[in-house]
Amino acid sequence: MVTGAGRGIGEATARRFAREGARVCLTDVGAEGVTTTARQLVEEGMDAFAVRVDVTSHSEVENAVGGVVNRYGRLDILVNNAGVTKDSLIYKMTDEDWRTVLNVHLTGTFFCSRAAQKHMVENNYGRIINVSSTSALGNRGQANYAAAKAGIQGFTKTLAVELGRYSITANAVAPGFIETEMTRDTAARLGVDFDDFVAKRVQSIPIGRSGWPEDVAAAILYFASEEASFVSGQVLYVAGGPRA
Ligand code: CAA
Repeated sequence: MVTGAGRGIGEATARRFAREGARVCLTDVGAEGVTTTARQLVEEGMDAFAVRVDVTSHSEVENAVGGVVNRYGRLDILVNNAGVTKDSLIYKMTDEDWRTVLNVHLTGTFFCSRAAQKHMVENNYGRIINVSSTSALGNRGQANYAAAKAGIQGFTKTLAVELGRYSITANAVAPGFIETEMTRDTAARLGVDFDDFVAKRVQSIPIGRSGWPEDVAAAILYFASEEASFVSGQVLYVAGGPRA
């Protein structure tokens, strides 16, 4: 189950998992993107379906997780990817900007993880992979997002400690600058041409290029793999450098 799979990192992750043979539930707050992607995957012979889920809704999350278990008999892998930005300097940040970002990233990750772990504990198997960000280390204009993404790291480590006894691992990926609709939206909001925006960001990335959604999907796939069964509570920066 991948949240926020309508576009960007979530979509790339769902596609990668489907290609690897996973049966994938794509969820997003908007139905359109996940419905289209799931249909394409099915047409290509893979097993996928889409559900509209607002991760801030306790009942929608419970229903979606229940739906996966009804359909497939189990839920092995949860990728908490859903997220939004409401960037602004702290002195201009509204209560709503703060609440929205914390609710979607952090409360959404909590709701989905709590619902999923119940079934994972029953099966004595599970992989929870959360999407943090280099912004967890601090980023101008992102007090809300940075707090949520840092919170996800602490949440992930705690899941690892609590759920390890049930052979459930919990890890996080922390992407740096990735070319997605989200970063395109940021450039548009700032009135900057996207190519110029990318070029500027790349100047501070040691590897010398921006990231792609597939780079993050590959790291998530590693945490979900059998080879990673002894790796838990970790944060893997996927940023072309130590923090980019
Ligand atoms: N109290 C009062 N005034 C203050 C203040 C405070 N605490 N802090 C700053 N100010 C004032 C400044 O002095 C300045 O005033 P002047 O008119 O006197 O110069 C004023 O605030 C405006 O400053 P800016 O023009 O720099 O601020 P802005 O409002 O235009 O926007 C920004 C700043 C929000 C940081 C904006 O540039 C922005 O959104 N940048 C992008 C942020 C970003 O990196 N987002 C990441 C998106 S990608 C992503 O999120 C994915 C991922 O995981 C990495």
